[in-house]
Amino acid sequence: MNDKVDQNRVIIFDTTLRDGEQSPGASMNVEEKIRVARQLARLGVDVIEAGFAFSSPGDFEAVRRIAHEVEGPTICSLARAKEEDIGAAWEALKGAPKVRIHTFISTSDIHLKHQFHLTRQEALKRAVDMVSLAKSFVEDVEFSPMDASRTEPSYLYEVIEAVIEAGATTVNIPDTVGYALPDEFGSLIKGIKENVPNIERAVISVHCHNDLGLAVANSLSAVRNGARQVECTINGIGERAGNASLEEIVMILKTRKDLVGLETGVVTEELYPASRLVSGITGMMVQPNKAIVGDNAFAHESGIHQDGLLKEKLTYEIIRPETIGLSRTRLVLGKHSGRHAFRERLRELGYELTQDELNKAFERFKRLADAKKEVFDEDIEAIVQDEVLRIELKERFRLKDLHVECGTHTRPQATVEMEVEGRTVREEATGDGPVDAVYKAIATITKTKSELLRYSVNAITGGTDAQGEVSVRLKEGEHIVIGQGADMDIIVASAKAYINALNRLEYKKKERKERTI
Ligand code: KIV
Ligand code: ZN
Repeated sequence: MNDKVDQNRVIIFDTTLRDGEQSPGASMNVEEKIRVARQLARLGVDVIEAGFAFSSPGDFEAVRRIAHEVEGPTICSLARAKEEDIGAAWEALKGAPKVRIHTFISTSDIHLKHQFHLTRQEALKRAVDMVSLAKSFVEDVEFSPMDASRTEPSYLYEVIEAVIEAGATTVNIPDTVGYALPDEFGSLIKGIKENVPNIERAVISVHCHNDLGLAVANSLSAVRNGARQVECTINGIGERAGNASLEEIVMILKTRKDLVGLETGVVTEELYPASRLVSGITGMMVQPNKAIVGDNAFAHESGIHQDGLLKEKLTYEIIRPETIGLSRTRLVLGKHSGRHAFRERLRELGYELTQDELNKAFERFKRLADAKKEVFDEDIEAIVQDEVLRIELKERFRLKDLHVECGTHTRPQATVEMEVEGRTVREEATGDGPVDAVYKAIATITKTKSELLRYSVNAITGGTDAQGEVSVRLKEGEHIVIGQGADMDIIVASAKAYINALNRLEYKKKERKERTI
């Protein structure tokens, strides 16, 4: 029995900043990653996988800064089972207080034969050698046999035994393609416990993808069969259909402790702020009916349900909204609200701002509150996205001025003035609509050739004085990015969103990632 591990506790390993960031369009810059990492630390996760240090200078810097600046959780870097990857992970982590290297290699015949052209024995040797190398740098080493759920079990046991012998302290069993079913995946974990002779010297972890919508169910089944670490992400974001959702795993264990008998160290009141922060930064909206953190998760519509709730909450509510950090009384801010109330609301929404950032956001809030009677949470989030996070992007392009003429009998015409690396450029264009005209002028000014994959406009809160929030998705070559902009004028919001996406594209091109997984 691994006596360092509390068998009643599940280790929460958050991979929002690594696997989560692999969601198309969800890439974050270093400052955004640090902001998310700080919230994960407040949330009380045990391990943060901060990135894949070897994959790009941006990832390296994010891992390095998070490891040195964010206190509390163990900070981990992913590394392929290659010397250069493990070297980069160590370079980024060294000198930081609590660190882990997570190395991996595929073990399924499908991957070994068709992708890596390795024999089973070659993959096993590489796994052992690279775990030993990682162990020469750090005590805390995790190993993943990628595509474990499609790996022949007896070979999987052999690999696991060998890497534990070489020093792995955690063995992570990924359902890489989200193929397993809950009973089957639980049995796999049980099989590992029963057939790997030295398994008690390591923690069994699981990493489930959601291709069949079973990532959480598979993780739960694994935990009930002996796994004691779950790899998961905020809002379940991740490669393809995503990873197991952290908030669901944590709240299942908390709500059904009577049956499962396990706990986590997560401060559940920080779940909602974490969810809002991640969706705000990545632009990946949470579906309204998403368990735990969706907008409708605590909204009761039916008369019978409302009647029951008024009599006794237990009738239809298995989780109190306060438990996940959602206040029942939504404080509506207005022009008389002070800086203190504003800062408190930001805190609840997951934003811990510096004094300077707070001042900028507060100033913009006051302007909005003057023009609009009530300022809702969504308005505040849009302000922070637009005013504060935008600045961190080190923008190449900036909107200076915009003028549009349109009407029932006029072909829409836009005049756009922008700053491009400090130079002012002005351009006119006509289009099929005012947004089309503006976008054409911006494309000419920025000399960009991106394809607009999606354009959506949303009135943040009701009323004709609502702020418009525009979200766009752009593609250029292999890069896909999301851009957001908010303003009371939706044409201005559209221009801001487009320019925000173009700045992100610039960032992506600069930090070009050599992703191999
Ligand atoms: O899905 C997967 O197999 C992974 C590994 C790198 C753990 O993300
Ligand atoms: Zn994964």
